[in-house]
Order: sequence, then C-alpha cells, then structure tokens
Amino acid sequence: MPTSKRLNVAVVGATGMVGNEVLRVLSQRGFPSERVIALASERSKGLTVPYNGGSITVDELKESAFKGIDIALFAASGDIALMYGPVAAEAGALVIDNSSAWRMKQNVPLVVPEVNSEDIRDNEGIIANPNCCAIPLAVILHPLQKKAGLERVLVSTYQSASGAGRVLVDELEEQTKAIAEGEEPPVVAYPYQLAYNVVPGGWRPEPGGYNEEEVKIVNETRKILHDPELRITATCVRVPVPVGHGESVFVETTEKISADEARELLAKSPGVIVEDDPHAKLYPTPHGVAGKDEVFVGRIRDDGSAKHSLVLWIVSDNLRKGAALNAVQIAERALEMGVIAK
Ligand SMILES: NC(=O)c1ccc[n+]([C@@H]2O[C@H](COP(=O)([O-])OP(=O)(O)OC[C@H]3O[C@@H](n4cnc5c(N)ncnc54)[C@H](OP(=O)(O)O)[C@@H]3O)[C@@H](O)[C@H]2O)c1
Repeated sequence: MPTSKRLNVAVVGATGMVGNEVLRVLSQRGFPSERVIALASERSKGLTVPYNGGSITVDELKESAFKGIDIALFAASGDIALMYGPVAAEAGALVIDNSSAWRMKQNVPLVVPEVNSEDIRDNEGIIANPNCCAIPLAVILHPLQKKAGLERVLVSTYQSASGAGRVLVDELEEQTKAIAEGEEPPVVAYPYQLAYNVVPGGWRPEPGGYNEEEVKIVNETRKILHDPELRITATCVRVPVPVGHGESVFVETTEKISADEARELLAKSPGVIVEDDPHAKLYPTPHGVAGKDEVFVGRIRDDGSAKHSLVLWIVSDNLRKGAALNAVQIAERALEMGVIAK
C-alpha cells in the first residue's frame, strides 16, 4: 500500500497459528513497517519465527514491550488481550485484537473492512477482529443486506482444527497417523477424537444449550451488520480438516432476490469469489481455499421454504480472512483513514 509512513509493529502471540499468519500477511502485503517485533510467552523467549524471507527473535511479552509501537496486533488469548491491550493502547499503539475479549464491548469497533470500515473511527485505542466464521458470513451477507434486506439467517458451520489453535492441528495429524498404523489415537486437545469424525461441540456451553462459538457468531454478525434485531441462529461443528471453515447458510431476505441475481451481486462484491457450477463440479472446499485471501461462495440456490430465501455455501481460510488478513486489512484501512497517528 502506498504510504510514506513506516510503522513500528508488535505481533503478540507470534509463535501461534494466527500470529505466524499475521507475520506472513504483513510481509506478503508489503505492510509499511519500520520495525516488527514478535512477542509470546516466556516459554518462547529466544526462539525465532519466520518473517519476510528471514526470521525474527521472539521476545517475552512484558508491559514495557510496547514503547514506541504504533500498531499492536494481538493473536493470543482473551486474558492476554484484556491484560495487555490497554497497556499497549496507553503506550500509544493502535491495538487490533484477534481474541473475543473486546469484541462486544460498546466502545470497541468490531470490523470487517469490506462491511463497516467507517467504524474504525470510533476506536478508543482498541479495535476487535471478529470471529473466524462471523467475518466471512458478514462479507457475504452485507451485499445481500444492502440489496434486499435481511429477515433471518440460519448457519451451520464446518470448522477446521486450526480454529482451535496449533494444538488441535497437531493432534489431528497424530490421530490420523495412529489410526493408519492401527494404533489407539491420542485424545487430549478436544473432547472427542476428531480424525474420522465430526464433532458438534468442543466450545464452552452457554445457558440454553448453545455454545460460546454459536453465541459469538450471532452477536458479532449483528454488531458488524449494524442490525441488532437480526434473526440469526448458528450450529457449530468441528470437522477433521486442518485449515478452512465452511458454512452452510440459509438467508431469508425482505425483498426477492433470485439465486442468479445473488450470484451476479456477490461476484461484484469486494473480497468475494463465486465458484458455483455444480455441473462442472465447481464449488469451494477448504482444501481449495486454504492459503487464499477471499471469501468463496457457491451452491447458491433459490429456496422455496420461505417467501424470499436463498441457501448457499461459504468457505474461507480461517487463519487468513478469518483472522490474520482481516486484522492487517483493518490496520491498512486505519492508516489510510489517518486513524494511526505517526
Ligand atoms: N485459529 C483461528 O482460526 C483463529 C481465528 C480467529 C481468532 N482466533 C483467536 O486468535 C488467538 C490466537 O489463536 P491461535 O489459534 O493462533 O492460538 P495458538 O496457536 O494456540 O497460539 C497462541 C499464542 O499465544 C501465545 N501465548 C500464550 N500464553 C501467552 C502469554 N502468557 N504471554 C504471551 N503470549 C502467550 C502463545 O505463545 P507461546 O508459543 O509462547 O505459548 C502463542 O503465540 C486466540 O484468541 C483465538 O481465539 C483464532
């Protein structure tokens, strides 16, 4: 991105799945950085992480780490974000946090740049990056909302192991190997064996039978779309896939929009790729989408179960658009909007 400003950037949780991807995205997009520092727990102090064709040494996260930092991209737990986010903001950094800790706080914008980048202006030092299913969902729903209005949304997710961090990706691989070798697979990181299985849980249960992830998708989608009354429900399922979340979505609209019109509209929408020709076996899959930036949509169908409704299938890379890329895009927009003082 063309700018004369060069920023000092901190990546918190740089050794994790999202943190690694943040570093990759920063260098791939030529983010205008003067200096990039990698922070993680005490355990990782002195390790190196890949960055821009080389590597950087990881430092321990401490309050003093944010001195002189312009942007702090957090990719650690909610507890770390709650503890160190305000410290970084106080030190003058714009914080963009991947955890869920700040997302629903009133004075914290929750941003998908294709949808509500103007909300960036309302920040008080911290901007939240939404949930990895809420981001692609909002990217697809927003054009439909503008064109035809939204009445009701039903989502079922097919979420990959990497959504639960490196530990579950490693366990899925170990389980798959163990099963292939006729051994008992280890089940430590998740309540059930994930290899050769599909698990409708693993997130913290909430009152009423929903779980934390389902509640996040509902609340965050409403906040991003500025539609607090949107009728929306979600069922979240973990599938034995390393990277890439799928979402099966039913959308009831206020005005009629046909599948053909929706296909045309979405094909013109920013950050979206339509792959939709079942006769040519063309529809997005996690395997095909891993490593890509856009939100992919296919299987768009007219639906007869409501007055005006469509069904469709969304896939995106949860580590990129679902996390790291969206966070870096927020930083880029903030810079373009002059929100980051330098
Ligand atoms: N994975 C996804 O698809 C996804 C999508 C959207 C949002 N998120 C959110 O992004 C965050 C990171 O997720 P992840 O999947 O990348 O997790 P992860 O692979 O488990 O990585 C966690 C990171 O946090 C660091 N960390 C742990 N304890 C720390 C401490 N006391 N001080 C400083 N750093 C500490 C770890 O450093 P060490 O290596 O030193 O332990 C590691 O770098 C989470 O809040 C997650 O909910 C994830």
